[in-house]
Amino acid sequence: TAPILRRLSDLRTLTTQWRRQGEAIGVVPTMGALHQGHLSLVEAAKGDCDRVIVTIFVNPKQFNNPEDLANYPRAEHEDAQKLLPFGVDAIYVPDPEEIYPQGFATTVSVAGLTNVMEGEFRPGHFDGVATVVAKLFLQTQADRAYFGEKDYQQLMVVRRMARDLDIPVQVVGCPTMREASGLAMSSRNLRLSPEGLEVAAHKHRIMQNLAQALKNGDTFGPLATQAETQLLAAGFAQVEYIQLRCAETLDPLTHATRPARLFAAAWADGVRLIDNIPV
Ligand code: PAJ
Repeated sequence: TAPILRRLSDLRTLTTQWRRQGEAIGVVPTMGALHQGHLSLVEAAKGDCDRVIVTIFVNPKQFNNPEDLANYPRAEHEDAQKLLPFGVDAIYVPDPEEIYPQGFATTVSVAGLTNVMEGEFRPGHFDGVATVVAKLFLQTQADRAYFGEKDYQQLMVVRRMARDLDIPVQVVGCPTMREASGLAMSSRNLRLSPEGLEVAAHKHRIMQNLAQALKNGDTFGPLATQAETQLLAAGFAQVEYIQLRCAETLDPLTHATRPARLFAAAWADGVRLIDNIPV
């Protein structure tokens, strides 16, 4: 079974040895409450790397909403069980002081990409993500890091940050894992009631229909209004955004003229759900 490490010094002992042996290290950063989406990243890492570290840290700095942080599911024991079949080499569950020691004063902030969508509706969120991910890259000394397209904007932000800071890690994006209903797997789905789950299940189909209309050449604006109406009719309480953007730069688009992605954030059953799909 993989050792659970809570101290950076213990992690360093392992990674220093691995690097000396010339082994490639992969890292899968998570906040725990692991599901099939997380495990698909672990599987990808195991396929590419000699050593795989899964990190579990519920990062307070990236929660703009204190209630969301307090309610975030925590399941360390179950998480370790779920990782068993994959034969990962270490599970790093840092004590909070290992990430944010007394007097911690540095923020990593990526401009531009973070002004829109999740950055707009969750002020400070991406500063928290970029800061903790930069630390996890440096602490694990990983050669490759695996992120889900489920959080597509996060993937772009992390990639930019690693490039800009010359952190020698390759950021690998992996496809979104979904429930049979199409609902993107998420730790926050655990907070949905059976009724909430049913509402949430409508989102993917509505987005797919919108994407199909875009592929037929329709203009985004009216389609977005229509999709918002459909989400509210399906039982979503609020739609924060539906946007069409360039898959590389995240620039807004009015038509699916280049590799494009459709993004949506909406509230169901008191839970904020995000998703995105290629167009
Ligand atoms: P968390 O939400 O736990 O997600 C960890 C990783 O799993 C992220 O890269 C996320 O995109 C990926 N993931 C989540 N659901 C997925 C799904 N349905 N299919 C595929 N991948 C999925 O994202 C975070 O944690 C944090 O922001 C973190 C990067 C760990 C920094 O704190």
